[in-house]
Amino acid sequence: MATVTLAPMEGVVDVYMRELLTGIGGFDLCVSEFVRVSQNLFPAAVFYRYCPELLTGGRTSSGVPVHVQIMGGEPVVMAENAAFVAELGAPGIDINFGCPAKTVNRHDAGATLLQWPERLYEIVSAVRRAVPKDIPVSAKMRLGFSEKSLALENAMAIESAGASKLTVHARTKLEGYRAPAYWEYLRPMTENLSIPVVANGEIWTKEDFLQCLAVSGCEHVMVGRGVIARPSLGLEINSKGEQYSQVGLFAWPIILNFVVDYYNLTKSMENDNRQMGRLKQWIKLLGRTYEQSSVLFDQIRRMEDPIGIVQEVRKEQYRPTGGVVI
Ligand SMILES: Cc1cc2nc3c(=O)[nH]c(=O)nc-3n(C[C@H](O)[C@H](O)[C@H](O)COP(=O)(O)O)c2cc1C
Repeated sequence: MATVTLAPMEGVVDVYMRELLTGIGGFDLCVSEFVRVSQNLFPAAVFYRYCPELLTGGRTSSGVPVHVQIMGGEPVVMAENAAFVAELGAPGIDINFGCPAKTVNRHDAGATLLQWPERLYEIVSAVRRAVPKDIPVSAKMRLGFSEKSLALENAMAIESAGASKLTVHARTKLEGYRAPAYWEYLRPMTENLSIPVVANGEIWTKEDFLQCLAVSGCEHVMVGRGVIARPSLGLEINSKGEQYSQVGLFAWPIILNFVVDYYNLTKSMENDNRQMGRLKQWIKLLGRTYEQSSVLFDQIRRMEDPIGIVQEVRKEQYRPTGGVVI
């Protein structure tokens, strides 16, 4: 059955956003923000910080598993850390070969490694050997570093090293996050690999989703910015085996309720500045789908405390043409 994964997004999709979005529904799996691994074995606290769900069976409270993503270029250190996070209860390990950051403590990592398929092979196989067989090891890559000629070779190296799944953000590192995504480069992968290939990049609507499946030949997708801007997206595209999902775009009042829920969840950050940053960030990103959110953002952008922001959200809920609270 086709699956929908919530994309890892450093500074955006943290434990609170995962809790909120998996509560809304439509997701089969989450992946944590990347943990940069360089020279040492991290203490447990580091993994708990990135993935507090390790303390609750590796799942959000809606029961959606959260795989822990690690990033680094040293096979031995990656393997040690992967084995440890598996011991801590991670339901799966994902390896990041897509991050545009140049170095991790002077060691190369992330998308830089896409220039050397043999290095991808070494890292994935070391991690695979170190982690118990029943725990999946997957990888996430881009189409290349500066160009796409090694895309298929990299994908095949990752498969032959023993990964059980490969997610592909359909752009090179140099293409950053600019549209379009080159979903057509995924078709040779779906044709040549026997592990699932998960399509990622530029899925903002159900139409994009259908187009992505048709062009890439993939069955599975991962969505990131799209669902942050359109929280109904997971439910719109995940038909759970039925032919079509019945869910459409949420109305603005429902979104306002979610923003209040998010405010309540992020209170446990116990850091007003960070909480405020997250609230502003989300309200801004929602503006891509909801014009009303752009207006709201202009009202709150200069505010300096989270309570002031949630008060504005509540005012909007009670406005005659705004939301309703049920
Ligand atoms: C702010 C931000 C943070 C990201 N952090 C990560 C990360 O920690 N690990 C990762 O593999 N990809 C990361 N990505 C890439 C996304 O997972 C995804 O591949 C990319 O946004 C394309 O998908 P989308 O068009 O659905 O957003 C990040 C992207 C953004 C915009």
